[in-house]
Amino acid sequence: MGEEPMTETFLNLIDGEWRPARSGRTFPDTNPADTRDVVGWLQDSDAGDVEDAVGAAARAFPDWAARPAPLRGRHLLKAANRLEERLDELADLLSREEGKTIGEAKGEVTRAVRILEYFGGEGTRLRGEVVPSERERIFMYTLRQPVGVAALIAPWNFPIAIPAWKIAPALVCGNTVVFKPASQAPLTSLRLAEILQATGLPPGVLNYVSGSGTGAGQPLVAHPQVRAISFTGSDVTCRAIAQVAAQRLARVQLEMGGKNPTIVLRDADLDNAVECVLNAAFFSAGQRCTATSRAIVEKPVAGAFLERLVERTRSLKIGDPRDPATQLGPAIDAQQLETTLRYVELGRAEGGRVIYGGERLTEGALAQGHFIRPAIVTGVPPSARLAQEEVFGPLLTVLEVEDFPAAVRVANEVRFGLSASICTRDLSRALEYVQSAEAGVIMVNLPSAGIEYQIPFGGLKDSSCGPREQGPAAMQFYTETKTVYVKY
Ligand code: UN1
Repeated sequence: MGEEPMTETFLNLIDGEWRPARSGRTFPDTNPADTRDVVGWLQDSDAGDVEDAVGAAARAFPDWAARPAPLRGRHLLKAANRLEERLDELADLLSREEGKTIGEAKGEVTRAVRILEYFGGEGTRLRGEVVPSERERIFMYTLRQPVGVAALIAPWNFPIAIPAWKIAPALVCGNTVVFKPASQAPLTSLRLAEILQATGLPPGVLNYVSGSGTGAGQPLVAHPQVRAISFTGSDVTCRAIAQVAAQRLARVQLEMGGKNPTIVLRDADLDNAVECVLNAAFFSAGQRCTATSRAIVEKPVAGAFLERLVERTRSLKIGDPRDPATQLGPAIDAQQLETTLRYVELGRAEGGRVIYGGERLTEGALAQGHFIRPAIVTGVPPSARLAQEEVFGPLLTVLEVEDFPAAVRVANEVRFGLSASICTRDLSRALEYVQSAEAGVIMVNLPSAGIEYQIPFGGLKDSSCGPREQGPAAMQFYTETKTVYVKY
């Protein structure tokens, strides 16, 4: 990597200090739209650095936990203001290291601002309950207390929103944090950690440790002093974390993948249905766990739906995500690009027809990045691997069904259950689907992706494990309940 001396090196935040990894090793953060561009060098941390960070977090815990929650919230509110002032700069950084379009990146940084504001306010609402006793002169109530040191491990596909929605509730509830970003996009959350630290957090309350899953992630989740683990990523890793945590009864919150459907019924507003599927399947290059990867369409409208979808997909401008005209950026890395291309081939082998896209793009500047033309595949059975396995790329499978009951059956016949969408003008059908959908988030006439921060988020089946993230529910994971009986 000849560019190394030109590119800045970033440190870990441990015990209030910015420090190199003990090993002295670093790794590059590269731009997926142009792999010659190294965005920064980050610390390749290992068990020793994790030990330092968890130790600092454990020492900081008693004082932070004892501080009034509204004062803890003030730090988040201050950070929200600072982050908003730096919105353009951080959105550009996010787009450069992750590859989502500048418009999406601005939306995500704005979302992180709102998350900090929301959880900052939660400091004044960290309330318990007063419950009447059966006995006389007994006052019974509950109060919420923090859990301890929280290990928070984020994925690369929302490099600031997900770190914010894990770190903010953890801190406001009085926990101390060791945060590990994903190695493919670690810098936007490093800026978030810097901004939070600059609000005057005591040393050790928030620690940022970059590194690989095996080098830093494994010792972090295995550490005996870590009491809560929140992780978003693959279900293979989630199962491994759950096993390690179960041995010491640490609590876990695990967010995994999806194979999310959008059902299009014959009475749907077809233009809206096409826009919903286009957005949910292809925006962010399909790299959202809430993405739609299966459009389940009633036969009478399938032809018209597909025609319009192909036309709209063809019009998407693919290119440099930092150019405001671009609508579709690259895959995060070569491996993800290969995975998507492999699934396109698999779809063909399973009897599918690739009616649009599915090839790597290498014209001009695109050759320097991991670009792919979004793919639409028809004709595979619902049981095909293409229609069952998460791909995490811009690859949509279209499944035609006879009627509404068949649509619901096909939608539910996967092991995942994160989000689901239905497009229809029929309120009864929509609400029937809400009842029977095996999904944790259901959208009606909206894309399956694109959630808000002030309402719970999480899935069913193999998509989630543990208490919900976001909204008031987030506070449950980050607090213990104490029950108090007072005789007066
Ligand atoms: C969204 O759809 O707005 O990793 C967020 C993911 C999810 C978040 C989706 N945990 O894609």
